[in-house]
Amino acid sequence: MRAGNIRRTVVGDVDGELLAFTVGNDLQTDSVLVEADCIGTAAHVVMLSRLAIQPHIFTQSEVHRVIQELLAIMRDGRAGRFRIRLRDQDVHMAVERRLTRKLGDLGRRVHTGRSRNDQVAVDLRLYSKEQMSRCLEDVCGLVGSLLDSARRYRRTPMVGRTHMQPAMPSTLGLWFAAFAEELLDDLAGLRAAYELNDQCPLGAAAGYGVPMGLDRKLVSDLLGFSRPVGTVLHAINARGKLEGTILDAMGRVMLALSRMASDLILFSIPEFGYLRLPDEFCTGSSIMPQKRNPDVLELIRARTANVLAGALQVKETVRGLPSGYQRDLQETKEPLMRGVEITRGSLRAMSRIIAGLEVDADALRGAFRPDVFAADEALRLTAGGMPFREAYRRVRSDLEKVAARDALAAVAQRSSSGAPGNLRLADLRGRLNRIESWVKSGRAAFHKALGRLLGVEYPELS
Ligand code: ARG
Repeated sequence: MRAGNIRRTVVGDVDGELLAFTVGNDLQTDSVLVEADCIGTAAHVVMLSRLAIQPHIFTQSEVHRVIQELLAIMRDGRAGRFRIRLRDQDVHMAVERRLTRKLGDLGRRVHTGRSRNDQVAVDLRLYSKEQMSRCLEDVCGLVGSLLDSARRYRRTPMVGRTHMQPAMPSTLGLWFAAFAEELLDDLAGLRAAYELNDQCPLGAAAGYGVPMGLDRKLVSDLLGFSRPVGTVLHAINARGKLEGTILDAMGRVMLALSRMASDLILFSIPEFGYLRLPDEFCTGSSIMPQKRNPDVLELIRARTANVLAGALQVKETVRGLPSGYQRDLQETKEPLMRGVEITRGSLRAMSRIIAGLEVDADALRGAFRPDVFAADEALRLTAGGMPFREAYRRVRSDLEKVAARDALAAVAQRSSSGAPGNLRLADLRGRLNRIESWVKSGRAAFHKALGRLLGVEYPELS
């Protein structure tokens, strides 16, 4: 039996209902890829024009016309005016349709030596490169403000806790510095993912190359990638696993933010009162007039689960796939984009919260009950030669006798490197400066390459 509702698409006839099923969420995800698709197409067309083929596939002036139209599409895309229709199936066919409508045969030629498989792969790598460089910047910005706060509060005593119980004298500065360092570690993971992503898959076509001498190095250089992916089949197979690597790296950043969020929620409840969250970050209750709820922090914590789950989802999607393109890969776009959006949004929100925190040093000091100094007292006894176990037993058997001490003096005695009395913030700042300058120069080189390709200032497009 023949299905009744056949829809003609550019690349085949499909039952209408099933067309919608196969397109799935692509109309949304692909609308995010309009710019990347145009940029990838521009580089492909320039590369084609330079091949030693007579007559040239594109002349210089034809390249110019194609790029002008691609720029118009990019501007429409930014203004929300570029529509991908169901019949297009995806952004790739929508851009090609527009080029063909405006430029006729020039539009019909752009797909020479290319498949949607390497096209979507390059779109996603361009998208990920831009988003990861912004994410790296966002993390660097947050680390910078955590280090500023670490310095500012390095002599602000705070009770250190284990099992949430009061444990040892510490400082608020150590709390800030520890999360700065955790995020510096996570920056290394993001950088590794960025570098893996920074390879150009174009020229792979459907995964097996084409019977033409495409210049894969040239197209990679035009797009500002570090190099082409080595083999054409890997260029296609890498999809999904690469998204998993990116989401894993972002998930680790989210794990840091999630724990920070939990601490900040705890430290700011009235019973603690160590910190006060900026007013504009607290919501009220519809029934209890006194409430200041830390919803933003709670959502950062909850959405961490989405990013971690997205990483698992894309890896599960590619686990067991045969090599070569499979339509399954389409389903990795949504978790990638959702993960990027959550991570960047959470970083921005957390940076603003950190910048706006109010600290109540009296409340912090007020939490120092004398028994927080019990271990200090036991260690003091060992200085006279008493074995630690003996000192421990003595202090424990007479806990009420442990006297309150000056918290700041107790902190200052913790002088080994990285301890509250010796945070070595300059080392952390040095790590931050190094990665920051790497991010900055990489981003500038990327944008410069795209500007040169398009003949405009990038990202302004002017
Ligand atoms: N929407 C597809 C994806 O994201 C684009 C590639 C389609 N290729 C194909 N052979 N059907 O994977």
